[in-house]
Amino acid sequence: MIPYGKHSVSNEDIQSVVDVLKSDYITQGKMVSDFENEICRYTGASFGTAVNSGTSALHISCLALGLGKGDWLWTSAITFVASANCGLYCGASVDFVDIHKDTWNICTDKLATKLEIAEKTGKLPKILVVVHFCGLPCDMEEIHVLSIKYGFHIVEDACHALGGKYQAEPIGNCRYSDVTVFSFHPVKAITTGEGGMVVTSNKDIADKMNLLRTHGITRQPELMAGEIHGPWYYEQIELGYNYRMTDIQAVLGLSQLKRLNEFVSKRHKIARRYNTDLENLPVQLPYMSDDRYSGMHIYVIRLNLDKCKKTHRQIFECFRKQGIGVNLHYIPLHMQPYHKKSNRTFDDLKEAERYYEEAITLPLFPTMSDEDYDTVISVTRNCIQ
Ligand SMILES: Cc1ncc(COP(=O)(O)O)c(C=O)c1O
Repeated sequence: MIPYGKHSVSNEDIQSVVDVLKSDYITQGKMVSDFENEICRYTGASFGTAVNSGTSALHISCLALGLGKGDWLWTSAITFVASANCGLYCGASVDFVDIHKDTWNICTDKLATKLEIAEKTGKLPKILVVVHFCGLPCDMEEIHVLSIKYGFHIVEDACHALGGKYQAEPIGNCRYSDVTVFSFHPVKAITTGEGGMVVTSNKDIADKMNLLRTHGITRQPELMAGEIHGPWYYEQIELGYNYRMTDIQAVLGLSQLKRLNEFVSKRHKIARRYNTDLENLPVQLPYMSDDRYSGMHIYVIRLNLDKCKKTHRQIFECFRKQGIGVNLHYIPLHMQPYHKKSNRTFDDLKEAERYYEEAITLPLFPTMSDEDYDTVISVTRNCIQ
């Protein structure tokens, strides 16, 4: 089966992990801060907090931004469940914004309308999690203007977008957001096995997140409430978690980061070939724009079902039967049983639902061979036409 995504680990990556395994610290050593510094250098953010997953990165972001019971978190209807769960972990309520028909990102016009209504009903969000879906940056400048008007925080869920650029600047510089979150799961741009990071330009938020990832414990005298009893002394000043990343993971991330640009440009090269080779099929191709460079995490197509002889499901199954590990990113969040069982009514999320009826994720990963690519194209033609 040719998978839809796959990690790429080199001998150099393996050697760096072996070196850490033979060293004095396999966790809580120097590699984690080195990795944080390198991600900051790459993105242009000032502070980085490495954690054990993108999900925990989202959770501590929400906590550090003060999200709690009685608050609302909004996110896109088309994203992975973690983009909304982070709000629920904090005791907040979540709501979804429909996607744009072309970009498949949160629709900025629909967001503006929803905010206008929410202001009247007193249900404005405290946090908006914007998701750079497939790696394509959202309309950050416009969303930032809305955040000032309505007073909400912006968390960029950039789990798909490390290596991407918006207005020629790296995703993660937080120019238009409070924090940006990355995931280092194996299918992502670079991997640490499991892992994540939050970057920010706000020191107070960074300090808070550093506490939250390690039990709420500090050894910094200036943050302590009481008198220092001796050199062993530390204080728990928050209720935190053990969300730490190990040095084994961090060194893998550091080693992978050296090849990030190469990985992303390989993804783009394959995506450009797809764009050309699929042009004459009844499908909608991913949105491209000059002011945004996608992280190109996944390559999604939407079927024009009126022009296909088979159903969406039949086409999906046709791929799988012929050894192509297509996937579907994502089931609209409001359709998940967890959200349905709350008996809440959601807004009209028609575009997200339509998207779900048509979307298929084709294989895309940096080590995809020409032979793999040719197989995918031939099966795609065969299944769709
Ligand atoms: C958009 C998005 N947000 C959050 C996450 C969560 O990241 P992790 O798997 O590292 O917890 C993912 C992972 O797939 C994701 O795709």
